Amino acid sequence: MTDPTLDKSISLPTLGVVRFHRLRTSDADLLYAFFQMLGKQTRAWFRPHTPWTHAVAQDLAAQAEDPDFIRFLVLAEQEGKEEPAGYGFFENLQSARPVLGIAVADAYQGHGLGQAIMQHLITVARQLGKRRIILTVDGDNLRAQHVYKKMGFTMTRLIPGSFHNAREMECIL
Ligand SMILES: CC(C)(COP(=O)(O)OP(=O)(O)OC[C@H]1O[C@@H](n2cnc3c(N)ncnc32)[C@H](O)[C@@H]1OP(=O)(O)O)[C@@H](O)C(=O)NCCC(=O)NCCS
Repeated sequence: MTDPTLDKSISLPTLGVVRFHRLRTSDADLLYAFFQMLGKQTRAWFRPHTPWTHAVAQDLAAQAEDPDFIRFLVLAEQEGKEEPAGYGFFENLQSARPVLGIAVADAYQGHGLGQAIMQHLITVARQLGKRRIILTVDGDNLRAQHVYKKMGFTMTRLIPGSFHNAREMECIL
């Protein structure tokens, strides 16, 4: 069977070639560099890795060998150097309904990268034999909701007591 988590490159109309890079245990600095590219609103909408410290990046990179997680960065070339432009993950991968999350660095938003990351996650989930994947999104995060609906996600429930009017969405694969 093909390994669905293999690194790969794709081309986007306005960004050019970007490279998916599965996180290794040695990638804490790279992940931390991505954290630093996220603005205030992006951090407000994407909260799983608060408080965005190097220690958090280290803990996440350390999970690279754990079968319950897949994390990857998308690297874009900027003046001959690669920099982290996007990020996606699966958690609870051993369960029947793994949870996913995505974020795109502010400077790269609105170029189709979020949709490319979602497509990659859906492909990975299918190849791992998953039938359902879920995520959580805030009520006022209309761009993310648009992307998720376009990818086939539907709302399953409001998260009780959520300050952010968050809802769970699910995609049946
Ligand atoms: C949400 C996010 C991942 C999307 O990634 P992206 O690269 O910006 O998105 P894309 O360029 O692939 O697609 C954006 C789509 O949303 C649409 N869109 C943009 N603003 C919108 C809005 N306010 N309301 C509805 N749709 C909107 C665009 O038209 C585009 O759709 P289209 O291709 O059908 O025209 C990214 O913006 C991000 O990281 N946001 C902050 C963190 C976050 O919200 N993470 C998700 C937490 S659940």
